Amino acid sequence: MAFLLGIDVSTTATKALVIDERGNVITTASDEYEFFTPRPLWAEQNPADWWRACVSAIRRVLEKIPAREIAGIGLTGQMHGLVLLDAEGNVLRPCIMWNDQRTAKQCAQITELGGGAKNLLRLIGNPILPGFTAPKILWVRENEPQLYARAAHILLPKDYLRYKLTGAYATEVSDASGTALLDVAKRNWSDELLQAIDVPRAWLPDVFESSVVSAKISADAANETGLLQGTPVVGGGGDQAAQAVGTGIAQEGIVSVTLGTSGVVFASSDSYRLEPNGLLHAFCHAVPNKWHLMGVMLSAAGSFRWFRDALGEEEKREARDEKKDVYEVLTSEAARADAGCEGLIFLPYLTGERTPYPDPHARGAFFGITLRHRKEHFVRAVLEGVAYGLRDSLELMRALGLNISQVRASGGGARSELWRQILADVFNSEIALVNITEGAAFGAALLAGVGAGVYANVEDACARTIHVTDSVTQGENVQVYDDFYQVYRGLYPALKDSFKADDAVTSRYV
Ligand code: XUL
Repeated sequence: MAFLLGIDVSTTATKALVIDERGNVITTASDEYEFFTPRPLWAEQNPADWWRACVSAIRRVLEKIPAREIAGIGLTGQMHGLVLLDAEGNVLRPCIMWNDQRTAKQCAQITELGGGAKNLLRLIGNPILPGFTAPKILWVRENEPQLYARAAHILLPKDYLRYKLTGAYATEVSDASGTALLDVAKRNWSDELLQAIDVPRAWLPDVFESSVVSAKISADAANETGLLQGTPVVGGGGDQAAQAVGTGIAQEGIVSVTLGTSGVVFASSDSYRLEPNGLLHAFCHAVPNKWHLMGVMLSAAGSFRWFRDALGEEEKREARDEKKDVYEVLTSEAARADAGCEGLIFLPYLTGERTPYPDPHARGAFFGITLRHRKEHFVRAVLEGVAYGLRDSLELMRALGLNISQVRASGGGARSELWRQILADVFNSEIALVNITEGAAFGAALLAGVGAGVYANVEDACARTIHVTDSVTQGENVQVYDDFYQVYRGLYPALKDSFKADDAVTSRYV
């Protein structure tokens, strides 16, 4: 029996997970760290913290399973971060992370140097967003020139761990897609864009397919971690692509919806497809010759958590007294309101939005309040508003001709039966749950299994380990939700300018 190790360098912790080839989770360990916000809108992390956490997590899983039994290793992690190294491989500054928002100016510069938004879609399949890697490189060039002068290598977070584990400078197509430097259609760096923004191609790592062996564990890393020297390390994947593999999204038609703090709608695509205005991320999938389309909502389960903390004191008390989960109390309350909440609609843009409105000024709102509305309507409206926002991404996918036969839900929010039913009715689609809840690290371990020859390919890996355990089908509320969704769709365009004005006034006082 082969064992496979997945390592996930997430925003909060690095996790190591070992599975056997049937997909049984044998052991996991994780070690946490913080991120720093030295200024508003900045988010930084020390690569040394990831490495420390990685070594500790690996050492702990190896207490349960001998290193010689590990057939392969797959890496995954937070995407888009900039790790800058000098020629000797020393880290030059903290990583500028995916949720850092400092680069609005550099985004505009790259868009201009790259020949405008339409041309960028041709070159890299995506617009330039502040979280992406490329504008961060220009930010360092402009603001930290002495440091930039010493730069020799650019890596993404999980690829920094690869460098520490193997000594190789390498990445893979799915994570590289989020740098805004990859020609996503050709699955390799865009020489044209690199030249236009004057970033040396030699700084960028080699690009592999996600399930291909990229390098092997070095003697130094073997010493430090206890892994066996020579153990193969496959390309791996960005956290979203690996998470999708780990929920079995390797074929067109099955879409995943992740209800974490943020909400992600992820569809595998057999061909390279673009949303004509670049509203969906168009990235390479961690499956050879496949791509994926992705919509990211910034506050999904995060909206529900906000409601719990801002307005849920009573429910928290009840949960404490009756030894229940507070979300359970809140959802039972929501279940007392009718679908559509008698016209009360929640806009979930609490931290601005990415898809379909890339707008940092967008804000949350309750719309349509009347004297009849009670607390239960407000709770339910939050669940429905998040579902409407996610449907926006699904609609963009449907408009590109993707035929969506099943939606697989995962993440903390998917534990609520009521929320799953609301999603089924709002999406007019079956919502399924799968047996795997380990997320991206599981997907990375499957990719390792493909590279190590345990599975024939990624589709085979998914088929052999992942299956549907539960599903809900759309019910009597499809029409109600479809009608209110049309109202929801009209609200952001109507409020766009007011959000901006409100933000401008607020920033004078807060
Ligand atoms: C994907 C994205 C996040 C980060 C952190 O585009 O921004 O998933 O990778 O999880």
